[in-house]
Amino acid sequence: MTIGELQNKIIEYKKKNDVCILAHSYQAKEITEIADFTGDSYQLSVMAHKTKQKNILMCGVRFMAETVKILSPDKRVILANPIAGCPMAEQMDKELIMAVKSKYPDHTVVAYINTTANLKTVCDVCVTSSSAVKIIAKIPNDKILFIPDCNLGDYVSKMLPDKTFKLLQGGCPIHARVSVEDVKKAKSAHPEAILLVHPECSPKVVREADFIGSTSAIIEYAEKSDKTEFIIGTEISIAQHLQYKCPHKRFYPLSKDIICPNMKSTTLVDVYNALNGSGGEELVMSDELIKSARRCIDKMIELGG
Ligand code: 13P
Ligand code: SF4
Repeated sequence: MTIGELQNKIIEYKKKNDVCILAHSYQAKEITEIADFTGDSYQLSVMAHKTKQKNILMCGVRFMAETVKILSPDKRVILANPIAGCPMAEQMDKELIMAVKSKYPDHTVVAYINTTANLKTVCDVCVTSSSAVKIIAKIPNDKILFIPDCNLGDYVSKMLPDKTFKLLQGGCPIHARVSVEDVKKAKSAHPEAILLVHPECSPKVVREADFIGSTSAIIEYAEKSDKTEFIIGTEISIAQHLQYKCPHKRFYPLSKDIICPNMKSTTLVDVYNALNGSGGEELVMSDELIKSARRCIDKMIELGG
């Protein structure tokens, strides 16, 4: 079967069975082509909230499917490939954060959305990379305990100098791989290009950037920019998607090593199998977990809207 034939089967199947396919922007092009909506973590959570279909298939990583289930507990939510986790989301558990909270009882606990549902139950507000600055600026407390990504936390703390931040040593192992050496190499190979980076990269890399933003913010910036050459400091799929969207411009990945194996573990065949019931995993969460993890996600939507 060709990719096109498989895509047609998927489109036919999802229409017949009332399924909405959500894909994160790090998914492969053949998956984003059959998705009802592709976006960054914040946009996906908002779409999950709004979508009318009774079944949602998430092409992304587990915490994204959990977020959908939390926001739409009455819907059937399926993670296309059950092995797709996010190592950052698994880095800190509830017990560790409870212990840290007891040391900083006057801090508001802000969780990056890349956390497990279980961990969200002990956090006050959730944020994504695109909404973190806006949401944290609106929190009345000026003392913030930000988990788990210290790179994103560092970036937000510089944008909001009036607040004090307690950061822990967590983060994305894929974005953390990028070095200032990579920046130097890419800039000398493409001297005319501007550098766009995701705030999950280290502060030293972020400092070199012309623009810092979430996956969708990077895409939007590059599409609208008058410039014609861009070095893209996030998962390599973003440079690929942009190259299709803007064929007259040039996009260079900051490093060929920024590949997220978890995001890339989902294939078009996984999508098909998840739809026909021979693959995927339906998310099952207790009412209590959904209810207590939801508080900080609702707060994110309230403050981010
Ligand atoms: P975005 O919110 O920018 O989509 O980021 C999600 C993510 O996991 C980046 O590594
Ligand atoms: Fe998680 Fe990093 Fe992959 Fe994003 S790129 S899903 S943060 S491991």
